[in-house]
Amino acid sequence: MTFDRAIKIAPSILSADFANFGAEIRAIEDQGADWVHVDVMDGHFVPNLTFGPMAVKAFRPHVKTVMDVHLMIAPVDPYIAAYADAGADVLTAHVEAGPHIHRTLQAIRGAGMKAGVALNPGTPADAVAHLLDLADLVCVMTVNPGFGGQKFIDMTAKITALRAMIGDRPIHIEIDGGVDVTTAPLVAAAGADVLVAGSAVFKGGSVRNPETYGANIAAIRTAATR
Ligand code: DX5
Ligand code: ZN
Repeated sequence: MTFDRAIKIAPSILSADFANFGAEIRAIEDQGADWVHVDVMDGHFVPNLTFGPMAVKAFRPHVKTVMDVHLMIAPVDPYIAAYADAGADVLTAHVEAGPHIHRTLQAIRGAGMKAGVALNPGTPADAVAHLLDLADLVCVMTVNPGFGGQKFIDMTAKITALRAMIGDRPIHIEIDGGVDVTTAPLVAAAGADVLVAGSAVFKGGSVRNPETYGANIAAIRTAATR
């Protein structure tokens, strides 16, 4: 993975057909996805449950780009080795998931992955001030995590603050939740480079109608880059 700040569209397979992940991943990549965003939920840190390391490992051979795994679980540390074995390129943990996020980020890098740190909407930018030398990505949640299709919460001030804190460091700013053609320009202007989008990418499409995924991805990219 080489670092750049170009806009990257990362469809969340939370909005894909859960009975057809392999074909769905191939379809979004064929249609222009830059990364594939994988939302892991545990029914404890968030009130929803998706899939675990065995499923993520099964997704791996279908992902040709970057497998971006977002852990909405607590605790995190006991599962880091399993997600490394599953083939995650980026592994993101929440600052709110436990008292030792610093150790968690060290462990993620130690296991050979890029380390991401995610912030819930109620958590200030300052929460990562002493973590930046351990992080490859900061994920700003623009919904309270747990479900796709929620209404965007404006975190522009937080993104702007993070962009200034990050300076020249090679750290991605990722936005997750409610990203569509209306909200993408706001977050991109504030300094985000990775835009996660679930419902806005998958709406209206299917593996039999993948061109709609392509049109949705292109529309978000155009909105973010104009
Ligand atoms: C929210 C997840 C998101 C979600 C985004 O808990 O982390 O990745 O799937 O979905 P949309 O784009 O539909 O808000
Ligand atoms: Zn996510």
